[in-house]
Amino acid sequence: MKIDLAVLDRQFRLYQEEYEAAALRALRSGWYILGKEGEAFEREFAAYIGRPYCVGVNSGLDALTLSVRALGIGPGDEVLVPANTYIASVLAITENGASPVFVEPDDCHGLDANRLEAAVTAKTRAILVVHLYGQAADMDGVRAVAGQHGLAVIEDCAQSHGAHFKGTMTGAFGIAGCFSFYPTKNLGAFGDAGAIVTDDEALAQKLRMLRNYGSAVKYHNEIEGVNSRLDELQAALLRVKLRHLPALIDERRRIAARYLEGIANPLISLPELRPGADHVWHQFVVRVRDRDAFQRYLKARGIETVIHYPIPPHLAACYTRLGHRRGDFPFAEQLADEVLSLPMFNGMTEEETEYVIETCNAYTGGGAD
Ligand SMILES: Cc1ncc(COP(=O)(O)O)c(C=O)c1O
Repeated sequence: MKIDLAVLDRQFRLYQEEYEAAALRALRSGWYILGKEGEAFEREFAAYIGRPYCVGVNSGLDALTLSVRALGIGPGDEVLVPANTYIASVLAITENGASPVFVEPDDCHGLDANRLEAAVTAKTRAILVVHLYGQAADMDGVRAVAGQHGLAVIEDCAQSHGAHFKGTMTGAFGIAGCFSFYPTKNLGAFGDAGAIVTDDEALAQKLRMLRNYGSAVKYHNEIEGVNSRLDELQAALLRVKLRHLPALIDERRRIAARYLEGIANPLISLPELRPGADHVWHQFVVRVRDRDAFQRYLKARGIETVIHYPIPPHLAACYTRLGHRRGDFPFAEQLADEVLSLPMFNGMTEEETEYVIETCNAYTGGGAD
């Protein structure tokens, strides 16, 4: 059997007629950028997260970068960020000339709130918290440190659409909740797209200007902006998927429940669940000491997996200027050596799920391939 990590045409087929009708509506409207579909999606997504404002942008990276910029964070400022995240979380900081200060993760792969305090300096302006793999970070701990030191909280929700921590949806904690709608995401578009949600009207207004060349009124450029707009076609398609997001999350939870119940192999550590957090399983990430051998073993049996992520940002070639070396964040580095994402996607069949479970359970260690 051949199983990919994610098979995107299956999730398209689940609601194919609705997507096709929405695409045609957008195409026939004659209006393709900043129009009715985008406005409607912003309204509907803001309501889904439970915040008054949503600003659609071109990508998750732009959502983060523009949020950092709109908060006036730049050269000389420090932003706390988990040491085990996708590079985009860090690029959003450095793109604005600010400095990332890495914080080790906890056992649930979120930023370890107990280590935040020690990383705060007089230059710290914000905590950029990432709800990695679809599970909320420890927001009690993050909020406590942010409150104590007057720090802004920016949430990277690129992987956590619909996930809660103690009843509050991710994206509703910080001053800015930043989302990616990259096609593989739980709420994925059919191209690049992203959004920021906030309660702060002035911030929303600034973000609207920043995404559109720094202008609120055409050709009146008040600040130096960028071109980062959510187009009408993606917005129309996202409106369809948003309606089905609860069902899509439920389906992922059913697959994850089967994995959690079925995979029983002392060589494979299953994901740890954070009390108070309801995982939406953007990724199902296991840990295996001899990970590369395990990945080869699965591949030889037709199962594709991906490492999220093999190189922690502090060791990325683009950040040698930051002067970090191996050993600076040992737990993040250990996770990078041990994590592996198993196939998880909407439209995955029971037969496929059972095959992954059986194959995992039959693994006997390095050299088994
Ligand atoms: C944690 C995280 N942050 C940010 C991003 C950036 O999103 P995008 O690819 O839409 O720019 C991604 C996804 O790619 C992500 O996984």
